[in-house]
Amino acid sequence: MTDRQEAARAILRGNDRGGYTVPTARLYPFQWNWDSAFVAMGWATFDAERAWAEIGTLLRGQWEDGRIPHIVFHAPADTYFPGPAVWGTAHTPRSSGIVQPPVLASAARRVFTADPDRARAEARMAAIFPHLAANHRWWAAARDPDGTGLVAILHPWESGMDNSPAWDGAMARVPDATTTPIVRRDTGHVAAAMRPREQDYRRFIHLVEVYRTCGWEAERMYRTAPFRMADIGTMAILLRAERDLLALADRFGAAERDGIGVRIARLADAVERMWDGGRGVYLSRDLIGAAPAPAATSAGFLPLWAGCYEHAAEMAATLARWSARAGFAVPSTDPADPGFEALRYWRGPIWAVVNWMSGEGFAAAGQGKAADPVRADTRALIEGAGFAEYFDPVTGAGAGGASFSWTAAIYLLLTRDS
Ligand code: DGY
Repeated sequence: MTDRQEAARAILRGNDRGGYTVPTARLYPFQWNWDSAFVAMGWATFDAERAWAEIGTLLRGQWEDGRIPHIVFHAPADTYFPGPAVWGTAHTPRSSGIVQPPVLASAARRVFTADPDRARAEARMAAIFPHLAANHRWWAAARDPDGTGLVAILHPWESGMDNSPAWDGAMARVPDATTTPIVRRDTGHVAAAMRPREQDYRRFIHLVEVYRTCGWEAERMYRTAPFRMADIGTMAILLRAERDLLALADRFGAAERDGIGVRIARLADAVERMWDGGRGVYLSRDLIGAAPAPAATSAGFLPLWAGCYEHAAEMAATLARWSARAGFAVPSTDPADPGFEALRYWRGPIWAVVNWMSGEGFAAAGQGKAADPVRADTRALIEGAGFAEYFDPVTGAGAGGASFSWTAAIYLLLTRDS
């Protein structure tokens, strides 16, 4: 094991709060949904028991209706806004009421495969499979109630890519008035130039207030939503998760097979409708404005992670263009887009988790000439700048929070064979 792999493990151990791993101290002091899924895969490279615990602790936050909230507030902390009082949900443990990209079933399958103790793996998967299945049924019922395959997110935070230029058009329609006082904590931890803007936050919190007024009821939220977006990233991650769930269903839930199959067909068909030949990448779709998202982003490569290989060669060419212009792969926004900003969170910076999923996708599609540089850049960025939250795609500098759990987890996944 290398010193850097040891350092990556030390980050996970240091961010362990007892059964869950915070993304980074202070800036994100709770359990985040998709962070924990990646982190569980990282733990599984050296401590399968701890990987299962990460998943089990996240599932303690699952609601009766099947949703898995984007934040679970297991223990109080005053270094983050908006905390549990702003969300005002009724769940115990306290949680937010929105969700995040459903990486969990894919992570669980990987932990299952990696666990050297087969009896434990079987027992743990048998216990969690029904929760994963309930969560995927929730996605279909709550976010695609009309069965179009265009599964919606209702808040930019649900994409995990909060201030992506892909949301600019749809967010411009969202009022920026709030009754909740906005007390930014994030900009006390990292430079404001790396974070969403004040107006973004006013709109983020406005949406929270709208859904709180809906009592967090899924159907009311969907029908009332002032922001309703078919996010190509979330849809691709869900499609991949459904395929992973289907692979597990033979052994752990045969009765779910038909339902999963129907959902996969619907989702795969909808993803294909989001291909944009001109941009050479998939685009999200604004379901209220009935128009493609204005900006091409790294989420548009994620259908490869979901097994959609039809346009893989064109996507490899697109990626080469973006990387040549920026310097490193994969900038979170097309560097030629007017909304691109190299340092501002999801408007340009490189994120290790997106790189990892893209690298896996390009490799599985037989596009080694795209997978190799993505993986090499990810390693080089981490080795050069540390386990940063994200990286400037032009200079390679680290940005955002430091000692970041999912960056450490991805490093462990990328280097597990060396
Ligand atoms: C944040 O607070 O920045 C998160 O991305 C929201 O989940």
